[in-house]
Amino acid sequence: MRQRRSCLAVPGSSLKMIDKARGLGSDQVFLDLEDAVAPLAKAGARKNIVAALNEGGWGDKLRVVRVNDLTTAWTYQDVVEVVEGAGANLDCIMLPKVQSAAHVSWLDLTLTQIEKTMGYEIGRIGIEAQIEDPAGLVAVDEIAAASPRTQTIIFGPADFMATSKMRSLVIGEQPPGYEGADAFHYPLMRILMAARAHGLQAIDGPYAQIRDVAGFTAVARRSAALGYDGKWVLHPGQIDAANEAYRPTQDDYDHAENILDAYDWATSDAGGRKGAVMLGEEMIDEASRKMALVVAAAGRASAMTRTDIWQPESAPEATEAGAA
Ligand code: GLV
Ligand code: MG
Repeated sequence: MRQRRSCLAVPGSSLKMIDKARGLGSDQVFLDLEDAVAPLAKAGARKNIVAALNEGGWGDKLRVVRVNDLTTAWTYQDVVEVVEGAGANLDCIMLPKVQSAAHVSWLDLTLTQIEKTMGYEIGRIGIEAQIEDPAGLVAVDEIAAASPRTQTIIFGPADFMATSKMRSLVIGEQPPGYEGADAFHYPLMRILMAARAHGLQAIDGPYAQIRDVAGFTAVARRSAALGYDGKWVLHPGQIDAANEAYRPTQDDYDHAENILDAYDWATSDAGGRKGAVMLGEEMIDEASRKMALVVAAAGRASAMTRTDIWQPESAPEATEAGAA
């Protein structure tokens, strides 16, 4: 599954923004029918989205459409019109405000019906589930397990702040008065565990101060450090910052590849079949290899190249060390 470091939100009602989004460097684009589209503009936005997907020009971006949530009257028509009209040119449907596994099951079954009717490959279109309120958060394990189509679990800070009654008016930023800790740590970690337990990507939501790229980067780095795969971007100016925050730093990437090489060598006949060795000042063992694999895989997925390559001769000492 391709990593979605940057997920660009584009209102389905704006032909200008849809057109511009095609040429931008986000990993994913999602054309929105939900909160960025006014009720009276929803029907027109469905038509714009179908036309835009079928026209193409999206390069290798993942193409996603966010439909309205299942408490509204719009959801089924959103899904039917978009998937019947452009299902062959669409990668995922994003379902917002998911509160139970039944919401995901409904979408799964509906997609299967449309795929059968239209002659599409069954099961190709994925699901992205947004967790945006307390009901969704406490049910996130079942939500993550509800359909094999599900690819990502997404944290929606704006609706989450509103439904939890967090005292803040700034989307994605810490609520004032809660100094010294991260008010989003619990939902972020809760979602991350559910996502990882089911092999899904965990995606952080929007940051609405679109001119404050440093603020965006600080928030993105926090969820990236926890293990999140990517974050929404609301403006072209946030794309590079997201792509950078959700890939390893060059030092970490080099370090991870060097751990893999050094450990591979140390465990070989030539390296003395050792299970725990020193790499510079650091002891590495099988657990280090697993950690390094995560960072190396993320770097390779972002097409990073090595700048500092470990060689057996340069190993200061391959002395056996105690295991962690
Ligand atoms: C996104 O949908 C959010 O509510 O933050
Ligand atoms: Mg929302």
